[in-house]
Amino acid sequence: MSDHGDIAAFLDLGWQRLTRGVADRRAAARHPAFATVSPDGLPEARTVVLRGASRSDGTVEVHTDGGSDKIASLKANPHAQLMIWDEKPKLQIRLSTRVTIRQGNEVADRWQNVPDGSRMAYGASPTPGTVIPDAEAYTKLASRDWFTVLTCHIESIELMQLVDPHRRAVFRARDGWIGEWWVP
Ligand SMILES: Cc1cc2nc3c(=O)[nH]c(=O)nc-3n(C[C@H](O)[C@H](O)[C@H](O)COP(=O)(O)O)c2cc1C
Repeated sequence: MSDHGDIAAFLDLGWQRLTRGVADRRAAARHPAFATVSPDGLPEARTVVLRGASRSDGTVEVHTDGGSDKIASLKANPHAQLMIWDEKPKLQIRLSTRVTIRQGNEVADRWQNVPDGSRMAYGASPTPGTVIPDAEAYTKLASRDWFTVLTCHIESIELMQLVDPHRRAVFRARDGWIGEWWVP
């Protein structure tokens, strides 16, 4: 059994590793798996870049192309889970979130900070996922109109650490992030 201070320190570790992912390109948390549910109810996961993490707001941020399939999925079901395996502390981080989709003037500040070389990730003709006759039969638009910010409001954080003995805890926003230990 561990006391409350111990579980609070475990959550601190989770946030440290998440925050590092935003600042450090080589950190494990830089590239979470981002899982959604398709409009026909099937799981779909893909790698994304972690663009923001705010402990005070309880949010993480991902940027995407507004024409990508994940947008249709999130419109049908706004829940997404982000999953990171951070090998150094042997820590798996799972964030269960509810996602707000933001575009246009609302995210003009974010677009300003996207380097020129990265802007091509936003907007494609035809739209992402369209069948094309050969691999290069598309144009990237680098378009502010397609630039989309996914603000992921964290509902729960599950941490699983492969130390001896293994430990696992779940922290929920609705409980003020107090946390409880779970059998790993
Ligand atoms: C290392 C890496 C980083 C990626 N980062 C992003 C990202 O930040 N945002 C994004 O939308 N797609 C990103 N992708 C592409 C996605 O994995 C995915 O292929 C694309 O978003 C289309 O997914 P969808 O059709 O399920 O929407 C990244 C892929 C890799 C391999």
